[in-house]
Amino acid sequence: MAAPKKTTLKAPKPLVAGNWKMNGTTASLGEVKKLARALAKKKNKAKCEVMICPPATLLAPMKALKAKGVALGGQDCHAANSGAHTGDVSAAMLKDAGATAVILGHSERRADHLETDKQVKAKVGAAHGAGLLAIMCVGESLKQRKSGDTLKVVKAQLRGSLMDDCTAKNTVIAYEPVWAIGSGLTPTVEQVEEVHTALRKALVRRFGDEGAKMRILYGGSVKPANAAELMAVPNVNGTLVGGASLTAKDFGGIVKAYA
Ligand code: 13P
Repeated sequence: MAAPKKTTLKAPKPLVAGNWKMNGTTASLGEVKKLARALAKKKNKAKCEVMICPPATLLAPMKALKAKGVALGGQDCHAANSGAHTGDVSAAMLKDAGATAVILGHSERRADHLETDKQVKAKVGAAHGAGLLAIMCVGESLKQRKSGDTLKVVKAQLRGSLMDDCTAKNTVIAYEPVWAIGSGLTPTVEQVEEVHTALRKALVRRFGDEGAKMRILYGGSVKPANAAELMAVPNVNGTLVGGASLTAKDFGGIVKAYA
């Protein structure tokens, strides 16, 4: 009988990413320096990747800091490479300014700018085309959770917002329940596990081994006090942090969940 096939699947390195949203000016650069200094200490050696996604205006100044151990990401990009799109930023521009990743389909963009799954999918393609990691967000509203539609909603967003050629290297999924964002509310660990398990199954069905390795982040009111519990949930491979990523103290405290 043939020897059982050796699995080459490696547990993905978790990602702790901070989404600064529309917060921060050059006055905030000190927090990034502080964070890099803290991460450099042996006792804080993180077993995860650490990333900050500042407003686009701060990418180049942050890159100039050469803050070791802190990767940079954008918060959105246009689906086109360049052209007559006043106010928009392309994936290539984000890359040029120092980003290695970009958040796409965040619920605030889906709500404020009426972004559809189809548009998010095109942006994911643009991010990949520019060589950026796409951090694609899904999440249900409170109304959808209350009506029992959570899994249906997040699976539809996942299906509609990803290209067929996504891999674990170029794509990360972030599950962010809309009602948990900035509210101080978090789902129970059971609720988080239910959604992450469903997302994992859907990813494996569509992308095979790549889907098995693709990181799925949890986001929504993550704080130093609840990070370890949330990050220990099966199929949670890191976190996308909003408010608590704005200070080195809190963000560093969350990174410690992986120290
Ligand atoms: P908060 O951590 O502030 O709840 O925000 C989460 C989020 O939206 C990250 O993208």
